[in-house]
This record gives sequence, C-alpha cells and structure tokens, in this order.
Amino acid sequence: MNLKNSVEYIKEKAKFKPEIGIILGSGLGDFVDTLENKLTISYEEIPGFPTATVAGHSGELIFGELSGKKIVAMKGRIHYYEGLGIEKVVYPTKVLCEFGIKNLIVTNACGAVNKSFKPGDIMLIKDHINFTGVNPLIGKNEDDKGPRFLDMTYTYSEKLRNTAKEIAKSIDLDVKEGVYMWFTGPCYETPAEIKMAEILGADAVGMSTVPEVIIARHRGLEVLGISCLTNMAAGILDQPLNHEEVIEVSSRIKNVFTEFISEIIKAI
Ligand code: 6GU
Repeated sequence: MNLKNSVEYIKEKAKFKPEIGIILGSGLGDFVDTLENKLTISYEEIPGFPTATVAGHSGELIFGELSGKKIVAMKGRIHYYEGLGIEKVVYPTKVLCEFGIKNLIVTNACGAVNKSFKPGDIMLIKDHINFTGVNPLIGKNEDDKGPRFLDMTYTYSEKLRNTAKEIAKSIDLDVKEGVYMWFTGPCYETPAEIKMAEILGADAVGMSTVPEVIIARHRGLEVLGISCLTNMAAGILDQPLNHEEVIEVSSRIKNVFTEFISEIIKAI
C-alpha cells in the first residue's frame, strides 16, 4: 500500500484544500449535485486506489464548494463483504485524511433495530458496537498518525451532533439518535442476531462506517455519523428483507438527506 502515489496524483489534479470530508452511503450520492466548482476524479484513475464493485460502478472522489466551504466527497465506498480485505476498505479514508480535513461526515443506509424507528428515519450515530472481530488498526501501528491504543470514548463528536440536532430542528426533521452495530454482511442478520443486537444496546445495524470512523479517529478527526434507516431489521416485522426496499427508501429520502447534510456543512 502506497498512499503517497494516490495522494500526489490527486493533489496534482485538485489544487484545493478541503476542510470537510464526506463519505456517501448507498443511494445517498446525489448530495454531490449541490456542490459548486466541482472536480470529479474516478477511483479507477487514481494509482493504488481500490475500485468498488457493489453497484457495478467504481466510485468517484469529488472536490467542490458549498456556500464557500471546501468539501471532498467520496461517492462509493468499499465494503468489507467485497472480500478485498480491511486495508482496502479504509484506504480511501486514509487518502481523505491526507488532505488535512478536520471533520469527516460518514453516512450509510442501515436497518432499524429500535422499534420506535421507522423506514425513512434519519439517525445520528452516538456510538457504535464492533463485534465483527475485524479492526483496521490491527497490525503495525502507524505511529506518525495516531496511538497504538486509541481511546474510543468520544468517537462521535458531541459538538457536531449538537450542530446536526439544531439544523434538524430548523428544517423540521425529527432526527433520531442511536447506537450503530457493524455486521460484515453480505447476508442480512438473522432474527436471533437482531435480538442479540438489541439486547447489546444497538439501535441500528449496517455493513459499513465503523472501519472508516476508526481510521478517522486514529488520525484525530472529528466525526459525524449519519444513518438512513431504510428498513426494519430481520424479525422485527414478520416479513423478509429485500435490497429493493433499501434502494426504494433511500431514493425516497435523498432530498431530505441532502438538505440536512448541506445545512450541517454550512453550519460547521
Ligand atoms: Cl437489516 N442489516 C445490515 N447489516 N445492513 C443493512 C440492513 C440490515 N438494512 C440495510 N442495510
């Protein structure tokens, strides 16, 4: 892995210093349409960059401005279930961190465990549970980036969550808050696993976010996690889950989501 090649290639094209990074989850990529003075770089053309496989397109890094704030957005991420290994999953996040961003917004589509949530709700992540046994910091510590034994007490910035809550109120959005539990996928959980997740304190379950957040915190960034609850998790309703529902709900809420994210960025 050679971050330097990727970073140098991108810096050559984008002479631009972003302050905020954003990782866009499945179906939430339309946010980039709101950016001005855009520069789009396809993952495929960046030396050393892994290419995502999930939706048949590889993904893009987009530099742009929103109300004068300089942003770098990752449209398309690598999921652990793709089988490329955890290093590839977090590689793009490591690249983003090299641009000197101070804040990272990480978004995802996930399943609701908390019965008071409903499909279409938006949840601020206040904490996470990683029971996968996978951790992107396993291996030799990058001492120049962060500590061997990273404190995880304040992983999801209270300040950024408070900003997000104020914005939610101002746009009349009933935003939820909860604990996100990472499962590797690609299969969805069983009802028994979801019952376990609930007992352990999870409000939502998903297949992403946690590895990227760990890397961003290791590098000292402030993190805001935002989940779109696309469906109830297995066994909560007496019906099977399907990927089409996930797609349908995320496309239904993408306008609200885009407005929410845009207003948060303006306020950061
Ligand atoms: Cl129910 N589980 C997981 N792991 N990811 C999801 C989901 C459920 N719904 C959307 N994404």
